[in-house]
Amino acid sequence: MRIAVFSSRGYDRRFLDEANARHGHELTHLEARLDATTAQLAEGFEAVCAFVNDRLDADVMSQLAAGGTRLLTLRSAGYNHVDLAAAREHGLTVTRVPAYSPYAVAEHTVALMLAVERQIPRAANRVRDGNFSLEGLLGFDLRNKRIGIVGTGRIGQIVARIMRGFGCSIRAYDPVRNEDVRDLGVRYEDLDTLLAECDVITLHCPLTPDTHHLIDEDALRKVKPGVMIVNTSRGALIDTPAAIQALKDGRIGHLALDVYEEEGDLFFEDLSDTGIQDDVFARLLTFPNVLITAHQAFFTEEALRNIAETTLGNATAFAEGRPSGNELEFASVRG
Ligand code: NAI
Repeated sequence: MRIAVFSSRGYDRRFLDEANARHGHELTHLEARLDATTAQLAEGFEAVCAFVNDRLDADVMSQLAAGGTRLLTLRSAGYNHVDLAAAREHGLTVTRVPAYSPYAVAEHTVALMLAVERQIPRAANRVRDGNFSLEGLLGFDLRNKRIGIVGTGRIGQIVARIMRGFGCSIRAYDPVRNEDVRDLGVRYEDLDTLLAECDVITLHCPLTPDTHHLIDEDALRKVKPGVMIVNTSRGALIDTPAAIQALKDGRIGHLALDVYEEEGDLFFEDLSDTGIQDDVFARLLTFPNVLITAHQAFFTEEALRNIAETTLGNATAFAEGRPSGNELEFASVRG
């Protein structure tokens, strides 16, 4: 198939081209982010490959369909950015990569927890500067702390296993309770109890209308003072201005993020010469107890290899007229 790969970076090219040696599609890599102004670049391509910050709204779907595109193959697990109703209306099949390396995301989550709590970036900068003072770097032991996991799917479950190894006690909230997770000694709670009792709250649920701003002013009124919040799922799970207020008055003691609700205009770009236009994001960066990475939790060799293989495998299945099992209608039913 002829596939237009939007938002393609050097690493996408490397892993997709490597996997394509087995699939034989014709890939055209485009640096442009897919949106209503760039959708015309896909004209004549049967398939479009998109990533998390491409804008896949009704306007884009209608332009893609008019240009002859029949398949939208997402190289991501999350699909909250896709207007599925519009895709269906325009006869577009949408596929995703449901699981590529939940370990990549879970391990990055734990890396963020440790790094923000022990202030590793700040400490390393000090040492580089010849400043060996420990003032202001006081951390706490994770052992015996209570970790609250919101969403015990593929990633949340691995975070639970890792944190058990640290000697933490684990609480979870998920409308669907998982016996394997319970067997780890994890106790399911309702969300309010988890908010009130946990020292660390880490988010691993998808972004849906139900979970949008799950952590808002109301939730932040219920947390244990000084709680650590970690979000490697989707930015809009947290109401950022409410989190900033809670950082100011100490209700949040540490905040570690790999995602941000308005990340589309920032992440994956080098803006070091132009500066940050987003004042809310810039305010977050002023807190010493906030650590942000730019949606890199998935970014390991193993994950990129699996993403490339499944993304192109989905296209191959489509071209051969058989389901891959990763079509979004199927995937969303499976949860
Ligand atoms: P999954 O589908 O295996 O698990 C999600 C879990 O969330 C399920 O157990 C589901 O029942 C639960 N859930 C649904 N609604 C909920 C609610 N209202 N409250 C609490 N739990 C709820 O998904 P997986 O693979 O574990 O991924 C989790 C999220 O991680 C994805 O939705 C995606 O947004 C994010 N992600 C982030 C990446 C990154 O690079 N930062 C990479 C990959 C995924």
